[in-house]
Amino acid sequence: MADVNITVLGAGVVGLTAALVLSQHANFKVTIVAKHMPGDYDIEYASPWAGANCLPVGKPGTILQRLERDTWPELNRICKHVVEAGIHYQDTVIYNRAKDAKSVTGEWLNELVKQDPWFKDILPNFRTLPSSELPPGIDSATAFTSVCINTPVYLSWLVGQCAKNGVILKRGIAAHVADAAVLHHTGNPADIVINCTGLSAGKLGGVMDPTVYPGRGQIVVVRNDPGVMSTISGTDDGEDEATYIMQRALGGGTILGGCLQSNSYDPFPDPNLANRIMRRCIDLCPALVSSPSTTSSTSPPDISRLSIIRHAVGLRPMRKAGPRVEAEKISGVWVVHCYGHGGYGYQSSWGSAREVEGLVEGVLGRVERAKL
Ligand SMILES: Cc1cc2nc3c(=O)[nH]c(=O)nc-3n(C[C@H](O)[C@H](O)[C@H](O)COP(=O)(O)OP(=O)(O)OC[C@H]3O[C@@H](n4cnc5c(N)ncnc54)[C@H](O)[C@@H]3O)c2cc1C
Ligand SMILES: *[C@@H]1O[C@H](CO)[C@@H](O)[C@H](O)[C@H]1NC(C)=O
Repeated sequence: MADVNITVLGAGVVGLTAALVLSQHANFKVTIVAKHMPGDYDIEYASPWAGANCLPVGKPGTILQRLERDTWPELNRICKHVVEAGIHYQDTVIYNRAKDAKSVTGEWLNELVKQDPWFKDILPNFRTLPSSELPPGIDSATAFTSVCINTPVYLSWLVGQCAKNGVILKRGIAAHVADAAVLHHTGNPADIVINCTGLSAGKLGGVMDPTVYPGRGQIVVVRNDPGVMSTISGTDDGEDEATYIMQRALGGGTILGGCLQSNSYDPFPDPNLANRIMRRCIDLCPALVSSPSTTSSTSPPDISRLSIIRHAVGLRPMRKAGPRVEAEKISGVWVVHCYGHGGYGYQSSWGSAREVEGLVEGVLGRVERAKL
C-alpha cells in the first residue's frame, strides 16, 4: 500500500491518542506538530491539568455518549495490563442532590448522577446506595468502579508508544491548515491533517469555530489520601462551583476540584475559591484529613490538615454541540477535525481516535476513487 502522510496538529490526550491509533497502520507516516507537548504546563494546554477520571456524562444518543462507551474498554485494558501507563482502579461514589438538577454543574452531571444510567452495565460493580447509607442532604447515590489516570505519566506514556511506532513529534505553531500540511516530517505535504487543537480551534485562522469556549476549572493538588473517588452534583457556593475528589495513580497526589466557569480565561487560582474547594472536599470526604486520633465529627473542616502540593487552573475546551469529529476539505487539503472535548477528553479519547481512523480511511477511499 502507498504511503500516506498524516500531520496530527496537537499533542494533548486527543492528538496523542489519535496519532497512536493511526501509527498502527504501517503505511501511515505520522507527524505530530504541537505548540505544547507533555511536560509543559500552560493555560492553553488542557491535558496536563485534568484529574483525570472516567465518569461518563454523555446523554444517550449523543456523539459524546458513543465516544465514552467506546473508550472504556481500552482504558480498562490499559489499567489491567499496562502498569507503567499510570492508570489505577478506584472505588467511586456519586452523590446527587435533587435541587442541583438545573444548575450549571447539575446539567453537566445529569446523566452521571442517574440511578439508572446507560453505563451501569459497562463500568464494573454498579449499584445504587440504600437510603440508610446516604449522608444528610443527599437524595440518592450510586457506586461503581472506575479509573483515575495520572495525567503527566499517561501523556508521557502515550508519547513513548507513538515514538515506538515511528511517529515523529515536533514543535510548531500552525496558524492555518496549509501550515500544518507543510510541517510533515518527510518534507512532502501531508495528505491529511488531523485537527486536535482543543480550545484553540475557536480562535485560530481559517474557518474559526465560534461555538468553542473555555470551561475554567480550578483545582488543589494535595498529598492526603481520600480512600475513595467521589463527586457530588452541586454546591451551595454558586451553581458553577463543583466538588470532586480523585487520587492519581503512582503517587500523583489527590486532585480536589473544582468549578466549571464558562468563558473565563483567567489562568490564576482564586484563593477564595481554593478555600471553598478545600472546605467542601473535606465535608464530602472527612477521611481526607482524618488520622487515627482525630477530632469528633462535629468539629469544622480543618483545611490546615491538607498538605498542599499546588494550586492550578486549566481550561476545558468546551463546544456547544459536544466534540466535533468530522472530515472536511479546507483550501484543497483534507482535514479530520477532532476537538471540543470539554471536561471529558480522557474518557472519550480512544473512541475519538477510532472515529478519526475511520474518517481517515473514508477520505483515502474518496481520494482513490477520484483518481480513477
Ligand atoms: C481541571 C480539569 C479537570 C479535568 N478532568 C477531566 C477528567 O477527569 N476526565 C476527563 O476525561 N477529562 C477531564 N478534563 C478535560 C480534559 O483535560 C480535556 O478534555 C482534554 O485535555 C482535551 O484534550 P485536547 O487534546 O483536545 O486539548 P489540549 O490538551 O488543550 O491540547 C491541544 C493541543 O493542540 C496544540 N495546539 C493548539 N493550537 C495549535 C496550533 N495552532 N499549532 C500547533 N499546535 C496547536 C496545543 O499546543 C496542544 O498540544 C479536565 C480538564 C480540566 C481543565
Ligand atoms: C481546526 O478547526 C478550527 C475550527 O474549524 C479551524 O479554525 C482551524 O483552522 C482548524 N485547523 C486546521 C489546521 O485545520
